Amino acid sequence: MKVIGINYLSESSVCLVENGIVKYAISEERLNRKKNWYGIPYASIKKLLKDTKNKISDIDLFATCGLSSLVNDVPDIGYLKKKIYEIKVSKLSKKIKKKQISFLKKRSKHEDYVINVRTRKIIDELKKKFKNLKVFDHHTSHAASAVYNSNFSECYCLTIDGWGDNASAKIFFYQRGKIREINKTSSLDSLGYFYGSITKLLGFKPHQHEGKILGLAAYGDPKKAMKDMSKLISYDKKNKRFKANYEKGIYQASFNNKNLNFLKRKYSAQDIAACAQFLLEKVVLECVNDLSKNKFNLALAGGIFANVKLNQKIKDQKIVKKIYVFPNMGDGGLSIGSALLAYYQKNKKIRVSLENCYLGPQYYKDDLLKEIKKYRLKFLKPKNIEKEIAFLLNKGLVVAHFNNRMEFGPRALGNRSILCSAKNKNINDILNKKLGRTEFMPFAPIVLEKSMRKYFKIKDSLNDYKFMTITCDCKKIMINNSPAAVHIDNTARPQMINKKISLRLFKILNEYKKITKIPVLINTSFNMHEEPIVCSPNDAIRAFLASKIDYLILEKYLIQKP
Ligand SMILES: [Fe+2]
Repeated sequence: MKVIGINYLSESSVCLVENGIVKYAISEERLNRKKNWYGIPYASIKKLLKDTKNKISDIDLFATCGLSSLVNDVPDIGYLKKKIYEIKVSKLSKKIKKKQISFLKKRSKHEDYVINVRTRKIIDELKKKFKNLKVFDHHTSHAASAVYNSNFSECYCLTIDGWGDNASAKIFFYQRGKIREINKTSSLDSLGYFYGSITKLLGFKPHQHEGKILGLAAYGDPKKAMKDMSKLISYDKKNKRFKANYEKGIYQASFNNKNLNFLKRKYSAQDIAACAQFLLEKVVLECVNDLSKNKFNLALAGGIFANVKLNQKIKDQKIVKKIYVFPNMGDGGLSIGSALLAYYQKNKKIRVSLENCYLGPQYYKDDLLKEIKKYRLKFLKPKNIEKEIAFLLNKGLVVAHFNNRMEFGPRALGNRSILCSAKNKNINDILNKKLGRTEFMPFAPIVLEKSMRKYFKIKDSLNDYKFMTITCDCKKIMINNSPAAVHIDNTARPQMINKKISLRLFKILNEYKKITKIPVLINTSFNMHEEPIVCSPNDAIRAFLASKIDYLILEKYLIQKP
């Protein structure tokens, strides 16, 4: 049975689930080269069908999200009235009350339009193009992506994002295939908008640069701005949901929240970032600890869980046995979530466990040589390419690595990656300059599986470190040997490598270890400034030529800068 999942929201994407297994997945941004592009991913559907040798008639089911646009339960007028009442009876000045109430009314009207007009139109278009279209709830699809790939037979699931289908967070309980919704947080109380509005306030692009705020946070003092910022969000224990405190005068569910501007005049950027991170962790941890009195497994999805530090804090809670973070946690992962829901609905069984994220297209000899010749590049085909790469990396050179199938999701996991040594702390500045980036968090390391416990303070399963979704504390040897991959708070975001995950990376790390005795390298995404990660050999060559990267590896070919 073949199911195609379609996400038309941010980072629109498609996937193919065949007999319950995710066989292929790609985001439209990789093909049209527009970061986080949204809309119906027609080019990706075409590419998926071509690469998997399917015709549209071979597909049994299509699946997508947007259920609230098909049922008349939005907007929630009762809840809006409650929020307005809270503002009316608050101690705020008349002027601020008016401003907050006016925002809430406008926001609700906008959501009503998006759900009942814009989304309905898209779903109508999908229904016309693809017969047998199943439509699921946004957060339930996030939940499905996490629980069905988690290997947990029973767990709680928390989904948190900006907003989708009239909610910004949901709590679920999962048991043997069945996902039961326990509670939801309104989109008016969005933690995604909270963190995104801080991203915008500090001069970065919301819904894209949240990682910079996370990196910056480690340099600041969360206490400094607490008095003002704690007015923004809280956890409502009685109703088991997050609460945006409009009645305290500054929160708005908008990236462009001008109420926050005063913070910049009073506090440094790093202190604001530190406080935002602290508050996010505080409210989410309150929610996690409120889920049950007994220990439980926890599956996580939704854009908020791109926050690797938050994930580490959740994992460290005594009440939590194990966590699983779906690697494409943002809306890009919804294609997989909705396809798995459709598969389960039809077959009442689950046989999914995402072994890896190498789900995208692969390119072969003819494609590669055609592009190399087109750009008249000189190349070598070394006998032992892994040894050659390790040699170059040890010399301090930067190598772009293009190999095998492209990753699905926000992280490059070695197949569309830039590699370099982590031996010197200043490599971050050098690399940021070479790539035209501003990052406050150091680049992440790839590490041989057998060295993971020697280099990091890890007590339980190493499987949590397959997809760079979580940070961990570094041991002294890591801090001394590979300081470029260690953050100021002595954490890192490692990707564990073994033969099964990636034979090529395994061999490179082993060759590098033979020379240096260090089983660690830096891995960062291979893309031009602010462009999506490269997909094709043509993208790779263009990015290579436009950058100051020293060498490009295209599968077996080694290309030097002309
Ligand atoms: Fe979402």
